[in-house]
Amino acid sequence: MSDIKKRRSQNWYGKQDKDGFIHRSWMKNQGFPDHVFDGRPIIGICNTWSELTPCNAGLRDLAEAVKRGVWEAGGFPVEFPVMSLGETQMKPTAMLFRNLLSMDVEESIRAYGIDGVVLLGGCDKTTPGQLMGAASVDLPTIVVSSGPMLNGKFKGSDIGSGTDVWKFSEDVRAGDMSLKDFMSAESGMSRSVGVCMTMGTASTMASLVEAMGLCLPTNAALPAVDARRGALAHLTGKRIVEMVEEDLTFSKVVKKVNFENAIIANAAVGGSTNAVVHLLAIAGRVGVDLTLEDFELAKDLPLLVNCMPSGKYLMEDFCYAGGMPAVMKELENILRPAHTVMGKDISSYFEDAECYNRDVIFPLDKPIKQKVGLRVLKGNLSPNGAIIKPSAATPELLQHEGEAYVFENIEDLKANIDRDDLPVTKDTILVLKGCGPKGYPGMPEVGNMPIPRKLVAQGVRDMVRISDARMSGTAFGTVVLHVSPEAEAGGTLALVQTGDRIKLDTAAGRMDLMVDENELAARRANWQPTPPHYERGYASLYIERVLQADKGADLDFLVGKDTRPVTRESH
Ligand code: FES
Repeated sequence: MSDIKKRRSQNWYGKQDKDGFIHRSWMKNQGFPDHVFDGRPIIGICNTWSELTPCNAGLRDLAEAVKRGVWEAGGFPVEFPVMSLGETQMKPTAMLFRNLLSMDVEESIRAYGIDGVVLLGGCDKTTPGQLMGAASVDLPTIVVSSGPMLNGKFKGSDIGSGTDVWKFSEDVRAGDMSLKDFMSAESGMSRSVGVCMTMGTASTMASLVEAMGLCLPTNAALPAVDARRGALAHLTGKRIVEMVEEDLTFSKVVKKVNFENAIIANAAVGGSTNAVVHLLAIAGRVGVDLTLEDFELAKDLPLLVNCMPSGKYLMEDFCYAGGMPAVMKELENILRPAHTVMGKDISSYFEDAECYNRDVIFPLDKPIKQKVGLRVLKGNLSPNGAIIKPSAATPELLQHEGEAYVFENIEDLKANIDRDDLPVTKDTILVLKGCGPKGYPGMPEVGNMPIPRKLVAQGVRDMVRISDARMSGTAFGTVVLHVSPEAEAGGTLALVQTGDRIKLDTAAGRMDLMVDENELAARRANWQPTPPHYERGYASLYIERVLQADKGADLDFLVGKDTRPVTRESH
């Protein structure tokens, strides 16, 4: 057993003085007896449960299961709430608040007398926000995810969260689906608590957390309502107590190789482009030098998981086919040796894994598609980088040159995209400005702009689209995202005008605005930023201090960690 006297919580609950009296006595109002303050590990359960985050609505039950495991292992569990981010419910975008959640998590962990923490999250921004905050305090840390919803159902077929919303919505615009049918698909899409059951951002991040060894094996894919998720939560409660005994802190588990394994896994599962900004931000907190270029590590890797939006199945099918252990087994010669929260190498997560459905998880030597890892695009239009997801794109459009049609902001897009006289063809490149971290603010998921209605009517379903925005992990298309610097920061994107030619060369990792330097210099001299949308509060602080997408869109003053003990008392 580790030295109890050195245990962090003893600085709150081990003191035989006025301060110890205050810390213990007020906790005892909940019925805790004397002996739970005897120096046993105190485990914080950091819960993002909220009725406004429906994806995390099952986390209250999972918290109770974690507590059972903590008690069983001889620890003392204490659950605390943090800000919750409901992706589908928040305006202008949940991403604006990811960094605020991370601050809440970090300061809650630091201010309270806990020795280790279990992060309960799931919906898109909750997992990265919690990991960012926890990394900056660096206690023993482990994740339990919400788990995906049951497969969506509509007229006897499976339908996927998000992906089929985008598809049905285009079908309605094209006249291929009635509004009545569209509305009746709503209830069947979301049939249980849990996160989107496509390989969207939530399941991507849960899959990458598993590949990074930050949770117990099988955490990513077990459905939210599967009894085995409760058992996994119980076992996680037991394990965090052991982690405290072993002093297995966040930074002892997570090194650069864990991020490299996440990047490799992201290609294999056809994961969300959002993983890029989240992994960069988490790396910044834990002190790992991860760059956008590191994501090219996976550019030649194939797609193995046949889940929407890159494939046809859903997370329930992925779970029954073997989940992440089966995928990692396929990748065993590619993944790097890495520490995990289990105290063992990552190979222990998949050594006994089997695949039970080869139409859902393909073998490495016969993948679904070759070379699908995210590509980083540099060039004069994105000097600090932009990204594209080839697995979700139309292959013929990955190499494309065409004339730009520019939307100056989201209001311009919404007002004009369906105009019958919009001067666009299937070869036009749609450009959207003002949707980056500073510009929107918060870098929303609007990069997968709708196809103009006049082209939808002609049967066009994909075009090259370029912006400083993100896109939903459930979305698809030939969409260039995260252009850095963003338009609002004075990037070249701000200078693009309708009629300019743009060349996208995904194979070469380039994206260029074919306008000569003198003309660009003249445009730059005339460029003015737009007045900020917020002048007070958190959003104004965010606009002032947010880093660009290629740095993870964290706030500049949050990068890194502070592990110093808190010595001053409150009274
Ligand atoms: Fe919460 Fe998709 S909206 S996980």
